[in-house]
Amino acid sequence: MSIERTFAIIKPDAVGRNLQGDILARIHKAGFKVIAIKSMRMTKEEAAGFYAVHKARPFFGELTDFMSSGKIFAMVLEADGAISKWRETMGATDPKKAAAGTIRHDLGASIQMNCTHGSDAPETAALEISYFFSAMELI
Ligand code: RTP
Ligand code: MG
Repeated sequence: MSIERTFAIIKPDAVGRNLQGDILARIHKAGFKVIAIKSMRMTKEEAAGFYAVHKARPFFGELTDFMSSGKIFAMVLEADGAISKWRETMGATDPKKAAAGTIRHDLGASIQMNCTHGSDAPETAALEISYFFSAMELI
């Protein structure tokens, strides 16, 4: 493995339930360095741009409504093998299928309201990081 950066979001359901402290504690415990973090609210258009890969899916409208429904915490996380490591820390998309001890298993409410996002490959990580953060915010 090598040192990588991935993009993560604490989603509106988790921020709405005040779970950001719990999730950040899990991020530190898992050994990630938080390179950048900001709290913001996406517009529906910004959420649609972020999840453009899913625009043909039946849940796209609901997903973009949900992701623009409240504040999020956008983050860049760094670790050895950060991309797969963060997806393991989050657990499976559906909290009912996620392994015990993962964020989505322990805190997720539904397949949509599953607390966190994580990039799925080096190319998407680079794209997603640049969607939310400028080069100067990543020094
Ligand atoms: P994410 O992109 O948010 O990290 O999640 P993921 O890779 O585990 O799952 P993905 O297939 O990329 O789906 C993106 C997000 O869409 C919502 N979703 N809703 N209603 C549904 O059947 C459904 N399926 C997915 C979830 O919020 C999921 O994280
Ligand atoms: Mg995904």
